[in-house]
Amino acid sequence: MEGEGECSDNLFTSVMTLTKMRVPHVPQRYVLPPSQRPNLTLDLTTTLPIIDLSTLHHASQRSLTLDTIQGACKELGFFQVVNHGIPLPVIHDALAAATEFFNLSLEEKMTLLSDNVHNPVRYGTSLNHASDKVHYWRDFIKHYSHPISDWIHLWPSNPPSYKDKMGNYAKAVQVLHKQLMEAILETLGLNFGNLQKEIEEGNQLMAINCYPACPEPDLTLGMPPHSDYGTLTVLLQSGPGLQLQDNKKKWLSVPFVEGALLVQLGDQIEVMSNGQYKSVVHQVTLSAENKRLSIASLHSLPINKKIGPAPELVDEQHPVSYNEFSFRDFLDYISSNDIADKRFIDSIKKSV
Ligand code: OGA
Ligand code: NI
Repeated sequence: MEGEGECSDNLFTSVMTLTKMRVPHVPQRYVLPPSQRPNLTLDLTTTLPIIDLSTLHHASQRSLTLDTIQGACKELGFFQVVNHGIPLPVIHDALAAATEFFNLSLEEKMTLLSDNVHNPVRYGTSLNHASDKVHYWRDFIKHYSHPISDWIHLWPSNPPSYKDKMGNYAKAVQVLHKQLMEAILETLGLNFGNLQKEIEEGNQLMAINCYPACPEPDLTLGMPPHSDYGTLTVLLQSGPGLQLQDNKKKWLSVPFVEGALLVQLGDQIEVMSNGQYKSVVHQVTLSAENKRLSIASLHSLPINKKIGPAPELVDEQHPVSYNEFSFRDFLDYISSNDIADKRFIDSIKKSV
């Protein structure tokens, strides 16, 4: 033992374990350099857009809502949605399954432990416990989720209700993702029909994140600044903690709205739109009092599908600004690069 709550490098320590041990300080490996520490005193930004998705089904309101979505995509790459069609009990059940999973003994969770980012199901901590230089105050279980019959047998079999509860939520979010993509492609003037099959056959990775109360939330983060690789991420949160950067690189705190879901644009949309829309940079802050759970559903086109700028959005004034990439290319990148140092999307931008 190097100090309180500290383990030698080859021993896995979850942050749930540290919290249970009531460590009075975060172990040194969680302490960020001062320039990377969060500002926890940001006001919750009450002006962030909240979109009533039921209006998309009414011909008279649809175009106004599409305008609002377009504005949110251009300015922030982020919006919240209500009346999204996923019933509150389905949401509560998914969060309950997540709570029960993280409350299991470490021994039980360790059966799913993996640092291989190509594994379709894996339990872990930080970003990647095996390679992180600085550690982040997060435990997670990640699993592929679509089509659900291909993957559900690999999901945790404890708690016994996990597969049912998380499965219902996963299927509902997959439907929501398709509706959101239809709307967002329309705001870009792109034909949804051309991509429908690939969206329906795309990859869905659910990241179920647990951020226990942290003794020194001003020194560390739950997740470092990053953008998600896919088309859209639909995020369910149990409380506040998410911060995002607006297009002037100013950090904003996202308020918690009961029953609402957060929609974040990912790198595949940035590339497809040839830079008209940007993927949103976000990070997770911690609380000294409360545990926070989140369920991020990360959607992308099929794992081997190369995505480049849509030809309709390329002309003399707007030359191709990105190289093509697939979800698999992203996985290969994070296997050998630290995304806390360099964003993936910067590695595929064309130099002008
Ligand atoms: C992620 C992520 C945010 C959160 O899993 O990619 O950014 O609030 N999660 O947990
Ligand atoms: Ni993210």
